[in-house]
Amino acid sequence: MVTLSDSVVVVTGAASGMGRSMAHEFADAGAAVAVVDIDADGAASVADAIGSAGGEAIAVDGDVTDTESVERIVDLTVDEYGTIDVLCNNAGVLDDFAPVGETTDDLWNGILDVNLTGPFYLTRAALPALRDGSDEGVVINTASVAGKVAGGGGAAYTTSKHGLIGFTKQLAHDYGPEIRANAVCPGAVETGMTEEMIEDLEAMTADTPAGRYADPEEIASVVAFLASDEASFVHGTAVDVDGGWLVD
Ligand SMILES: NC(=O)c1ccc[n+]([C@@H]2O[C@H](COP(=O)([O-])OP(=O)(O)OC[C@H]3O[C@@H](n4cnc5c(N)ncnc54)[C@H](O)[C@@H]3O)[C@@H](O)[C@H]2O)c1
Repeated sequence: MVTLSDSVVVVTGAASGMGRSMAHEFADAGAAVAVVDIDADGAASVADAIGSAGGEAIAVDGDVTDTESVERIVDLTVDEYGTIDVLCNNAGVLDDFAPVGETTDDLWNGILDVNLTGPFYLTRAALPALRDGSDEGVVINTASVAGKVAGGGGAAYTTSKHGLIGFTKQLAHDYGPEIRANAVCPGAVETGMTEEMIEDLEAMTADTPAGRYADPEEIASVVAFLASDEASFVHGTAVDVDGGWLVD
């Protein structure tokens, strides 16, 4: 089982939004964190902030859609910290809610590459490190309410997040108990992804039980729980952290 205080955690998409909150949450719990993002400056500034607060982190300039870059993410983390205990596949991109008829090949492939193929590439590359000790390895994938219902994104986004939940289940099925894999399904969250559509977030969430959108920390705290020993019997599920979006 993973004790967060001496674990090594990789978080992708950690320069911004929920990934940044996850990186801080894990570092605050005493973990060493690889802050991975295609935005190298953003990753460096998050790792610096963690270091300034007395935590342990390295910044990794990485693109989850590129297999060489993905190998580098794993190698740099293992060179620095010796292993990987927790992998958070969090990097993601939105498709502007485009329906099928307005989804170009480039849009489709771009969304699927980051949101679904990226987690596959990085999980596959990290498996030896995740399985290298007597402790279980943990994988947490950031899916979405769009992984369960339509309307939380467009055709490509919804498909990618449904696929990511399927990927999570198959991972748990194939590698449990050595790997404990779960997904989180956020509803509307104020992040870099949604900063241009705050009024839309308000409208989307007005009739949900919470009646509001979330701060990224409200998702990161659930991810840290799922990664911890406290969630030791939670395998292969997709946990809604959505303010009740899916209740109806
Ligand atoms: N914001 C929401 O309302 C919401 C809701 C449900 C799910 N999500 C999911 O949460 C996750 C985090 O998104 P966020 O809202 O924090 O957005 P964000 O835009 O603030 O952060 C996403 C990060 O991913 C990085 N990234 C993009 N492509 C990458 C690549 N190829 N390789 C490495 N990093 C890459 C970006 O540079 C960015 O820093 C995503 O998977 C998103 O789909 C978001």
